[in-house]
Amino acid sequence: MKLHTIQLTHIAIMTAIIIVLGFIPPIPIGIIPVPIVLQNLGVMLAAIVLGTKQGTFSVGLFLLMVLLGMPFLTGQTGGISSFCSPSGGYLIAWLFVPLLIGITLSHFKNHQTFFVTFLITWIFGVAFVDAFGAFFLAWFTHISIKSALIAGLAFIPGDTLKAILATWIGLRVHKHLTLVNQN
Ligand code: BTN
Repeated sequence: MKLHTIQLTHIAIMTAIIIVLGFIPPIPIGIIPVPIVLQNLGVMLAAIVLGTKQGTFSVGLFLLMVLLGMPFLTGQTGGISSFCSPSGGYLIAWLFVPLLIGITLSHFKNHQTFFVTFLITWIFGVAFVDAFGAFFLAWFTHISIKSALIAGLAFIPGDTLKAILATWIGLRVHKHLTLVNQN
């Protein structure tokens, strides 16, 4: 598997976008120790714009740098401790988002409407991430799974808006990249 310079550039740019979104301050929700952040918008965008392979590289590169201690998460935090925290499950789930969205979208190649892309993005970028994160949170903080899932519902409205935005921007940028690659 060989990545060309242009693909490496796309991966690096998308990783940079996820990092920059981390500069937008977190919003604490009070009921659970996991804030509202904007970086998951970048993760969904990586999936739609770059697809399975490059999207996973881009999110993986971001998470690797965080794991190695770079303060790239919202609130300028990072390190192994970020993964061993109530937010750990959300971060782990992020890695699988481009894979799940990319593979599913590839089955709809000729029917990739806004709604189909949004729905797939919502299922894996919102429902899957929030459910996985809630299961991890329940295990980590010793609260019941039911309480964690109910508390996590607070993320759904904002995450749904992020999925709409990611779909809107992502489809446009993806189309542009495809056209550029054809020329
Ligand atoms: C971190 O910065 O430590 C990671 C925070 C994870 C936040 C999760 S992502 C899905 C859900 N939606 C949000 O806005 N916040 C949580």
